[in-house]
Amino acid sequence: MNPSPSRAPLGIGVIGCGEIAQLMHLPILHELPDVRIAALCDLSAEVLDALGRRFHVAARYHDYADLLADPAVDAVVICTFDHGPVVKAAIAAGKHFIVEKPLAFTAEEARLLVEAAERSGLVALVGYMKIYDPGYRLGIDAIGRIGRPKMVQVHDFAGRFDRYQQLYDQVRGSDIDPGVLAAGRKAADDAVAAMLGKSHAAYAELYMTLLMLGSHDLAVLRGAFGPVERVDYAQAVGKTHLLAVLGLPGGVPALLEVAFGALYEWWDEWMTVYGEADEVRIDFQNPYVRNAAASVRVKEQAGEGASERHLPGTPDTAFRRQWQHFLACIDKGATPMTPLAGGLEDLILAERIIKALPARDNQP
Ligand SMILES: NC(=O)c1ccc[n+]([C@@H]2O[C@H](COP(=O)([O-])OP(=O)(O)OC[C@H]3O[C@@H](n4cnc5c(N)ncnc54)[C@H](O)[C@@H]3O)[C@@H](O)[C@H]2O)c1
Repeated sequence: MNPSPSRAPLGIGVIGCGEIAQLMHLPILHELPDVRIAALCDLSAEVLDALGRRFHVAARYHDYADLLADPAVDAVVICTFDHGPVVKAAIAAGKHFIVEKPLAFTAEEARLLVEAAERSGLVALVGYMKIYDPGYRLGIDAIGRIGRPKMVQVHDFAGRFDRYQQLYDQVRGSDIDPGVLAAGRKAADDAVAAMLGKSHAAYAELYMTLLMLGSHDLAVLRGAFGPVERVDYAQAVGKTHLLAVLGLPGGVPALLEVAFGALYEWWDEWMTVYGEADEVRIDFQNPYVRNAAASVRVKEQAGEGASERHLPGTPDTAFRRQWQHFLACIDKGATPMTPLAGGLEDLILAERIIKALPARDNQP
């Protein structure tokens, strides 16, 4: 049951109507009570027209500045490739927002966004939806019961990305000037190259892997144990395959493995926490599958022997829980669970991990 807030439905503007907007944010916003999709923004007219018709949205913009100036828009979700300029403009326009991960391409850029968001008093979340996953929440409770961990392992090899595409209709525009996309990509590459410097220039792709795929894993690790204190070791196994040994609060070691490219038919992303007498493992779902939560396995002592329990998370979509939390922050003053400051911490850690690799100015 959703108690009705004493306000008109919140008008949401969707900026960047590509894959994640179409697969998750738009259908969820369409179904949620007490919100309405007030406006869409994308570079592609084909995409805008198709989605505008599908979701009955008349306000369609090519320029996010125009969407942000629309008084029917109370809040936005930012699903473009380059988030920083849009976040800055959303804050200046006084709109609450969810920004997809990563918050920015570098910590330097993110720091300014965090300061501006904190000054504004707006509700601002990074779209780390796994933090809201009911299975992850169950797993956090189970981890809290096993005492000080001996060791933590976070593993994300993902899986086949082509499989989910057959589950949903997706409109892709053929009318975007490739020069505009290339310029956006180059601006990001230049910012990353400047941050990495010549000594670590060869790891740009690995850094982006850590941002695009691994930032979720840095967030779930931080959500469970607090900020990582040390980077003890890092290895570039391949161009998009990273191994790192981290130090968590209390001197607990964590092994992090992140890689793109596995052709697994399953989604291979999990966190295992080894206690003195018990073990808890959280298996995350393919992020593109709706109504499926992470699941938890607990191995523990039972009398003279061992037992293994499987705790299925309540079926739900982590993205939907994220939207419900966003609304609770706006309507009831709930404390943001994924504030921008966390996105900044993850960018700082990503940079530290990459800079812990041996200097190399050509490809690994
Ligand atoms: N939370 C998750 O699990 C998850 C999963 C996938 C993607 N993402 C994030 O979502 C973002 C988008 O990813 P995607 O896979 O949907 O990409 P995509 O390329 O499919 O979509 C991006 C869309 O933004 C539009 N766009 C780009 N620049 C724009 C601008 N300046 N103004 C208006 N529209 C603009 C493009 O036309 C495109 O339609 C990325 O930051 C990505 O990291 C998050």
